[in-house]
Amino acid sequence: MILFDKIQATAAFIKQKINCKPTVGIILGSGLGGLIDIVDKEIAIDYSEIPNFPVSTVKGHGGKMFFGKMDGREVMLMAGRFHYYEGYSMEEVTFPVRVMKALGVETLILSNAAGGTNSAFNIGDLMIVKDHINLCPEHPLRGHNDERLGPRFPDMSQAYDQELINLAKDISAEQGISIRTGVYIGLQGPTFETPAEYRMLHIIGGDAVGMSTVPEVIVARHGGMRVFAVSVITDIGISDVPVIITHEEVLEAANAAAPKMAALVAALVKRL
Ligand code: HPA
Repeated sequence: MILFDKIQATAAFIKQKINCKPTVGIILGSGLGGLIDIVDKEIAIDYSEIPNFPVSTVKGHGGKMFFGKMDGREVMLMAGRFHYYEGYSMEEVTFPVRVMKALGVETLILSNAAGGTNSAFNIGDLMIVKDHINLCPEHPLRGHNDERLGPRFPDMSQAYDQELINLAKDISAEQGISIRTGVYIGLQGPTFETPAEYRMLHIIGGDAVGMSTVPEVIVARHGGMRVFAVSVITDIGISDVPVIITHEEVLEAANAAAPKMAALVAALVKRL
């Protein structure tokens, strides 16, 4: 089946299960499930039930799609995403974003755990993503372009919506949440970076580095969605002495920052 038909089939399956028409989609990163508690959930669908959906394999990634309301606004929320390092193709990694778009989602909010490549950052900081650098080895839009999904050569000059960035900054100030703004670099992983790589990532303009988000944002922009992304800084790679980074520490730091992120995203959705 061609991609367009696959997307339509999956969206049709989901549509007959739900009673709502969410215009906001949220993808939660590792250890950032806290937001699920804030959503007034109507239905949860396991990824394993959804036709054409890959199955999530990583610890800390739930693998469920939730539909419900946040402050009365209909949202859909994905707990568990697909990463290129798991072996999925870029088409698989970004398929859920295509399905969200087909379901009527206009605004996509993404969160992730990321390593800090800016030495001014601290573990536990939230960083609004203002731009990205795509260093993934494969592009999600490589290959035949189906014009029904978006243009052949999408503009990326404003990938992250400036209005949403400003709104998130206002909310953070009001709530007393200290917030950073920076550039996220997307790599394939699954290794964390070497000290020389963290340094290089900083030199080329990165403030944070991670293994997700960038392909999803590209596909969201291809489809004309508004995008907002926020990173939790779970480790600081840039340092004069080697810093050992483990997945457990990343999850722990993400979990610790999850309530802060949930508060920010909830307030953002309310004011969209
Ligand atoms: N590098 C890449 N991905 C990450 C990191 C990191 O330091 N921390 C959390 N995800």
